[in-house]
Amino acid sequence: MDTSLLKVDSITVRRDNATILKDISLRVESGEVTGVLGRNGAGKSSLAYALMGLPDYIPVKGSISFLGEDITSWSITDRAKAGLTLAWQMPARYEGISIRDYLRIGPQNSSERNLEEAMDFVQMSPLFLDRAIDKSLSGGERKRIELASIYLMKPRLAILDEPDSGVDLLALREVLGLLRLLADQGSGVMVITHREDVAAGCDRSYLMCDGRIILEGSAAAVKRYFMSQCRPCEGCEGEQISRKGVLNEVMGRAKNQ
Ligand SMILES: Nc1ncnc2c1ncn2[C@@H]1O[C@H](COP(=O)(O)OP(=O)(O)OP(=O)(O)O)[C@@H](O)[C@H]1O
Ligand SMILES: [Mg+2]
Repeated sequence: MDTSLLKVDSITVRRDNATILKDISLRVESGEVTGVLGRNGAGKSSLAYALMGLPDYIPVKGSISFLGEDITSWSITDRAKAGLTLAWQMPARYEGISIRDYLRIGPQNSSERNLEEAMDFVQMSPLFLDRAIDKSLSGGERKRIELASIYLMKPRLAILDEPDSGVDLLALREVLGLLRLLADQGSGVMVITHREDVAAGCDRSYLMCDGRIILEGSAAAVKRYFMSQCRPCEGCEGEQISRKGVLNEVMGRAKNQ
């Protein structure tokens, strides 16, 4: 039996006659930070939506297993109950409510003590709990609050779509540290990014291009390939790589590096 936390087997997703995910296979393990790297439009957010079970992103082919169970046809609610959480690239807006109330949406135990512990986790003062979620919060503070919310949920699998956007380089190291802490506490973490320095901080990374995974390997090897070979392309380099059958060769090279 496969013991991976999440195992995605050859999924294909179509939207409005466009194939946006093509034969994607990957796995995420508990206690590990797995990166999904790719340029704009590669299909990273679509992959996150498919994993969370958004109705428009149900695969037309392939399967998704979570803790050994086939969840391909499960609803978002059932996936969330089983322990899957997504931090959206564009978080739903809860403008106006207090950070305390925002953090109380979702987790089972949202005692004041737990909320303060979560704020401590993201290195924010508990005084922020009384602040409203509004334009007065900086982009970095918003990101930290999202992370605090994930921390409180203690998900089995946390999928984070570009947690680094709007975060400066210094804070980026902290974000990576927080992802590592989540993994150390037993969660599987999947971080979606277009920044190679984020992918480099992961245990293992996948590179996406044009709806496909074109490379899997150590974070360092994927970063190296991304920086040296992966330029913004018209049409798709990913498809060319797959068609030419050089993918295995590239992967072999990356694994040996
Ligand atoms: N309903 C749709 N019909 C056709 N194409 C779509 C549809 N939804 C998404 N796409 C396309 O699928 C591709 C992948 O989009 P996605 O948002 O997953 O990319 P991404 O890797 O998350 O990009 P970014 O880094 O910009 O967030 C894009 O080219 C997008 O235009
Ligand atoms: Mg995206």
